[in-house]
Amino acid sequence: MSLIRFSADQAAGLAQLSHRPLRDEDIPAICGFPQTPEELFFAWHGAVWPLTPSEMRRILPLRVDPTTFLLGGAPVGFAALGSFKPGESCGLGSVMVSANCRGHGVGGYLLRVMVDRALLHHRLPHMDIYCYAHNTRGLLLYAGAGIRPWRIESRTAPDGGRVALVIFRVDAAEWLSRRTAA
Ligand SMILES: CC(C)(COP(=O)(O)OP(=O)(O)OC[C@H]1O[C@@H](n2cnc3c(N)ncnc32)[C@H](O)[C@@H]1OP(=O)(O)O)[C@@H](O)C(=O)NCCC(=O)NCCS
Repeated sequence: MSLIRFSADQAAGLAQLSHRPLRDEDIPAICGFPQTPEELFFAWHGAVWPLTPSEMRRILPLRVDPTTFLLGGAPVGFAALGSFKPGESCGLGSVMVSANCRGHGVGGYLLRVMVDRALLHHRLPHMDIYCYAHNTRGLLLYAGAGIRPWRIESRTAPDGGRVALVIFRVDAAEWLSRRTAA
């Protein structure tokens, strides 16, 4: 099983990537990340399209550790922890990358930072990641990081249809051993 790997080009770009806690001034840029109602549905359960600064500020209190990812100082990604139960578990939520920066490893960097935050900083025994089965980019992001699907549940889509939700579970001991070996 591999930890996230980057090409030489991706590695050069990633050298400029950084992250820090969300600042209110980041919010307008982050609201531009989801391109369609479906992408917002994929990324942020409970968010109403279109994502506006006031809508984002309304739903943010349900998240822990909202984090902005920056490339050369500009916001290019966002993620947070959800369903946070101290000492037990949390979920990865609100994962979004700016449309013009996708496919260059920002998602992989973001994923590693947020899993580290949940499992190494908060010392939770595991973290769950939720991804709809028709979200190819999301599924490949998590599978490419060597994270395995744990279970599949039925959910209702905004149009009333049924969709399959794939739940990935990241175990802390396994993540730590892979981080140490990488
Ligand atoms: C999903 C998302 C966060 C991925 O971000 P990203 O920065 O493009 O991710 P990465 O560049 O690290 O790519 C991760 C994997 O996605 C896959 N991928 C990349 N470009 C892709 C494309 N054009 N089509 C399909 N899959 C692609 C690859 O498997 C890649 O892994 P690899 O580089 O090892 O091959 C981004 O597409 C996004 O914001 N989507 C809208 C919101 C969303 O779906 N959030 C996730 C909710 S579960």
